[in-house]
Amino acid sequence: MKKLKIADGIHMLTMNVEDILFEGIWEIANGVTLNSYIVQGEKAAIIDGVIGWDGIPETLYRSLAEIGVDLQKIDYLVVNHMEPDHSGWIANFRKIKDDFTVICTEKAAKMVASFYGEDKIRIVQEGDTLDLGKGKLLSFHPVPNVHWPDTMYTYERQTKTLFSCDMFGAFGRMGEHCFDDELTPEEIAFFEAEGIRYYSNVMTTFTSSLRKALAKAKALDIKTIAPGHGPVYRKNPQKIIDDYTRFSQYADGAGKNEVAILWGSMYGMTAKAVDYVESILQREGVKYNRLEMPLESDSEMIATVFKSAGIIVAAPTYEYKLFPPVAAALNELGRKRISGKLAFRFGSYGWSGGAEKELKEIIARNNMNWEFIDSVEFEGAPKQEDLMKVEAGVLALLERMKEKVVE
Ligand code: FEO
Repeated sequence: MKKLKIADGIHMLTMNVEDILFEGIWEIANGVTLNSYIVQGEKAAIIDGVIGWDGIPETLYRSLAEIGVDLQKIDYLVVNHMEPDHSGWIANFRKIKDDFTVICTEKAAKMVASFYGEDKIRIVQEGDTLDLGKGKLLSFHPVPNVHWPDTMYTYERQTKTLFSCDMFGAFGRMGEHCFDDELTPEEIAFFEAEGIRYYSNVMTTFTSSLRKALAKAKALDIKTIAPGHGPVYRKNPQKIIDDYTRFSQYADGAGKNEVAILWGSMYGMTAKAVDYVESILQREGVKYNRLEMPLESDSEMIATVFKSAGIIVAAPTYEYKLFPPVAAALNELGRKRISGKLAFRFGSYGWSGGAEKELKEIIARNNMNWEFIDSVEFEGAPKQEDLMKVEAGVLALLERMKEKVVE
């Protein structure tokens, strides 16, 4: 557990969490931080939390003492978002202090009661405030569906600090550097990549709501953005606002100048054409990533397709349909509402086609609105003329994806 001063009277407690599946689904190879904030005036409030995660009250006593906070003055627990990565500590907190008020939105209140049995709750609405004394004034700003319907921003007016919870967050463990002005260029790149993984895995389904939350953030006078996961932005909060604006565009089909090859092969026939495509992309100097399904994790697959301006789907027919691991990947991308991508598909078949039909069904059923270059199918192993058709498709993709590039 690290304890850091954000501003006078505001501290962050943060811990790295490793070896979990985030939300019970997402493999996070680089871990994730859980950030908690304490704002202290005459009274004190904890905003979101990690401080009781180990279930040991003494840890909390010690952490609070080390940052000079009197436990008895913590009268408020601000629950920006009820998802238990931010609220799972409430039950532990009650073990050491019984008289506090939970501050949250109406939708969160219902869940705080059902998950933790809390009943001393103050429901807040847009613009409501909480005066902690000594100039510390919190205001509350609901941002529904970021990422559950209950979410809100908390804003501290004296220091112009936005406690944004999931919004502006990123996966990735933090080392010694927790503020944007401390990060090395490598760490900046790391947290951008982990921000893309986080946004695409957890948030992208709610992109239309995130756009409203972006607008709400832009309307506030912000000096510091303090999210629930990842670094605090105190030097240049506009950087993470710009990143999130760009990520929202990736959700609608834009991407980096990169190609994602989403592929699978039963006996290596389609794989031969994938290898050939790889040689074309190398020749053309285009950055690409191969995602072999089902070997690749869904977390990596979603993040890579999400950030790419061009998608190559390479998969054979299997039992009259699309090779199941690739079909499952596309369905997952559809569930995440990753739409508007530019794509090209090719693949092998044995005695009958059928992959193309299911591909179209998946795209239509999920309202994905992907644009496809004409597909190429070949019987058995790809012949030279098949590879020439595949190359033409790849070159067409590279030409057309230029208009999708947003770096
Ligand atoms: Fe970080 Fe939606 O929880």
